[in-house]
Amino acid sequence: MSMNRKHAIKFLDKIFTDGSKLAPEEKLFSYKDVLYPVILCQPETFQALETFEARMDDIILAGYPKTGNNWLTHILNSLKITAEKYTEEEMKRRIDIEEQLAMTECLEFGDPGKFKRMAKLPSRRTIATHLSPQSLPSSIFKNKAKILVLVRNPKDTVVSYFHFNEKMPCFPASAWDAYFTDFMNGKVSWGSYFDYVKEWDKYIDDENVMAVSYEELKEDLNLGLKKIATFFGFSLNEEEFQRVVELSSFKAMKEIAHKSHGAFGEVLFRKGCVGDWKSLFTESQNQAMDRKFEECLAGTKLGAKIKYEVYCKV
Ligand code: A3P
Repeated sequence: MSMNRKHAIKFLDKIFTDGSKLAPEEKLFSYKDVLYPVILCQPETFQALETFEARMDDIILAGYPKTGNNWLTHILNSLKITAEKYTEEEMKRRIDIEEQLAMTECLEFGDPGKFKRMAKLPSRRTIATHLSPQSLPSSIFKNKAKILVLVRNPKDTVVSYFHFNEKMPCFPASAWDAYFTDFMNGKVSWGSYFDYVKEWDKYIDDENVMAVSYEELKEDLNLGLKKIATFFGFSLNEEEFQRVVELSSFKAMKEIAHKSHGAFGEVLFRKGCVGDWKSLFTESQNQAMDRKFEECLAGTKLGAKIKYEVYCKV
């Protein structure tokens, strides 16, 4: 239940048309040693990011790519809309404002002027980002906006990212083995998965930060939604929770994918399951990932949240 679909769909559709016009070597740029797709991000937007003024009641979702960001954005918006009991008129008013301001929910997507326009959005704003904490504007931490940190096990994340790269023309496509190596070395868009989790782990005990895993939501969505709602202060009754659960299932979201996400929806809602990594990983890739996880994330709280032993072992 996102509120700014027309502009968002136009933005997403443009990824396909503009992305296919680029040669593979033109598709990514590097900013502070991290790769980003030129169709989605601009160096000028990163420079302007520090001018973004966070609000205490902002709803921030931080997730590495392909860990379920669109799912969680939908969940957060659904919880917000239900708890705040928007009338149809209020919904329309908000949609009109977001359309006029040409907003997409991802903080680092789009033009540098967007941060000024974001100041005109009514509260509470839902803001998603794939950025590590050290790349986020300081006002997010200073103004104590609440941040939901989303994690997914690295094996399913890399498989999901690989298929996404194959289908989305804004990324240079590569064969599985080469893609796996790039992922392990952080040479993919938004950089290293392992650095990302390690950096967010430093914030995990902050009172304004809560972690959730893709896998725990798959196991018990109702329970997960209740934890998220408590964290953000959304009050819903049991029936309302159940309704959000139903509307957030993979099947329900895939059914309306074209309406909610345009052509991007066909690519986004792929399998939506846990354990698909078994379809691609070779034995040596399994061992390499096991070693890397141990080396980078063993002993961290966010690493423990991923439950590597449960979801990543044969
Ligand atoms: P797969 O490629 O493994 O299917 P992101 O939104 O961060 O790009 O993440 C995309 C992943 O989330 C995809 O994983 C997609 O299928 C999955 N996803 C999207 N909606 C979902 C839902 N309602 N339930 C479970 N998984 C979902």
